[in-house]
Amino acid sequence: MLKIGVLVSGGGTNLQAIIDSIEQGKLSAQIVSVVSSSVKAFALKRAERHGIPAYLYRKKDFNNNSDYEKALITHFNEKGAELIVMAGFMVILENEFINAFENRIINIHPSLIPSFCGEGFYGLNVHEAALDKGVKVTGATVHFVTNETDAGPIILQKAVDVLDNDTPEVLQRRVMEEAEWAILPEAIRLFAENRLVIDKNKVRRL
Ligand code: GRF
Repeated sequence: MLKIGVLVSGGGTNLQAIIDSIEQGKLSAQIVSVVSSSVKAFALKRAERHGIPAYLYRKKDFNNNSDYEKALITHFNEKGAELIVMAGFMVILENEFINAFENRIINIHPSLIPSFCGEGFYGLNVHEAALDKGVKVTGATVHFVTNETDAGPIILQKAVDVLDNDTPEVLQRRVMEEAEWAILPEAIRLFAENRLVIDKNKVRRL
């Protein structure tokens, strides 16, 4: 069974979607560790409620970024994690971590990449930008993580309508409900079943 490490920083609704898929028997995987960058993250409580080991790794508790990434690499290796899932993780990880788990880190981004992504596009900002532009459709993307922010091979995308009176908060919720919570567990399932092949920065599905 695929062993997963999950990185979180906030509410953890995407973590919950993964937990629910596993508990409902739709996803054959085991979460071996939830790592949070914030002590306030409700995601930690969710892990606790489901008996999943959870840990706090804050950048500020380490001398520098390299020490932080080394600690995370050691942690996930000790846990035997075969796939790292960034589920609302608000820290940008650099080469050391990404190279250590090459092609084994996935991220969920709340837009249809390549729109509204890259540096500065995180959390509510993404939905504010979509509303400012007046797009009629937005959505979510699950992709492999590479050294370039939000630019790795795309695994799954799902579109969501933008409605006339949407606020960033309302749109964020709809994107989560209609897209994120569906495609993140589905992407993990495809990875677990060895059905994702990366070829020239694109994902081919078997
Ligand atoms: C989600 O919108 C995710 O796409 C983004 O951060 C949010 C995290 O939400 N990267 P949650 O912590 O999973 O509830």
